Amino acid sequence: MSTIQSIAENYQSFNPRAYLQNNYVPPRADFSNKDSVVPWKLQCLADACAKGEIGGQTLVDIGSGPTVYQLLSAFELFKEVVLTDYLEVNRKELKKWLQDEPGSFDWSAYVNHVCSIEGKGESWQEKQTRLRERVTRVVPVDIHQARPLGDAFAPGSVDGLVSSFCLEACSPNYEAFEKALQNVTGLLKPGGHLLMIGALEESYYLAGEARLTVVCLTEEMVRKALRHVGYKIRDFRTYSMPPSMRIGVDDVKGIFFTWAQKQGHN
Ligand SMILES: C[S@@+](CC[C@H](N)C(=O)[O-])C[C@H]1O[C@@H](n2cnc3c(N)ncnc32)[C@H](O)[C@@H]1O
Repeated sequence: MSTIQSIAENYQSFNPRAYLQNNYVPPRADFSNKDSVVPWKLQCLADACAKGEIGGQTLVDIGSGPTVYQLLSAFELFKEVVLTDYLEVNRKELKKWLQDEPGSFDWSAYVNHVCSIEGKGESWQEKQTRLRERVTRVVPVDIHQARPLGDAFAPGSVDGLVSSFCLEACSPNYEAFEKALQNVTGLLKPGGHLLMIGALEESYYLAGEARLTVVCLTEEMVRKALRHVGYKIRDFRTYSMPPSMRIGVDDVKGIFFTWAQKQGHN
């Protein structure tokens, strides 16, 4: 049976490049295929961000891993963006991309795709440069701590949260998942918004040598956790993994997207 500690140990062999290769190139990221999972995720995020309700000073992405796609719409609505991850190797991979170093992962097709969804007629290069400028920090996070970012942020000080495939991928059971959601929600101001994407009915995924266990969630469990922690669900969508996306790097059956708002106002 896995525990928070055994999961943390497994993450020590997490390979960012293998993870990117498994999930962020075709077929999972095929912008010419309307059934591909990455375009679905980007559309969900863009739709929520287009409603005109989300925004503020600080956006924090919880468990960024080595990826930035999850921020491509939301970052535009905040003055400052903070990336976070538990692992130094992932924080390094992010910094490499932010500094446009040779060998960093190429997100340009993603940026280009989001530009076309948003339809503002700007070039992907402008958007990409703006994202790099908007990120002010890349900091450690541990969702199992009552204060996941330590002293870096006071409770209730953050205007928006993004998190993709993090909470369920580091929690041994539903109770730990709900507690982790409560911990990260402590960062958010009342009335602040959460954009979360995650795996449904997944028990493991691979990242190089690492085999990470995932708490198997249903849509109902995610909705329950959001309710218990004090969110109003503003949107909830699910995607069922088609056979062409089942490529042996995990056993994920579906994906959820939610836009949720922390109850109460300042
Ligand atoms: C499945 S990856 C998700 C990466 C990225 N957000 C994405 O959308 O692909 C899970 C991430 O959770 C991070 N992680 C592991 N343990 C954690 C913890 N205790 N607190 C926060 N993040 C953790 C891992 O380092 C990894 O980057």
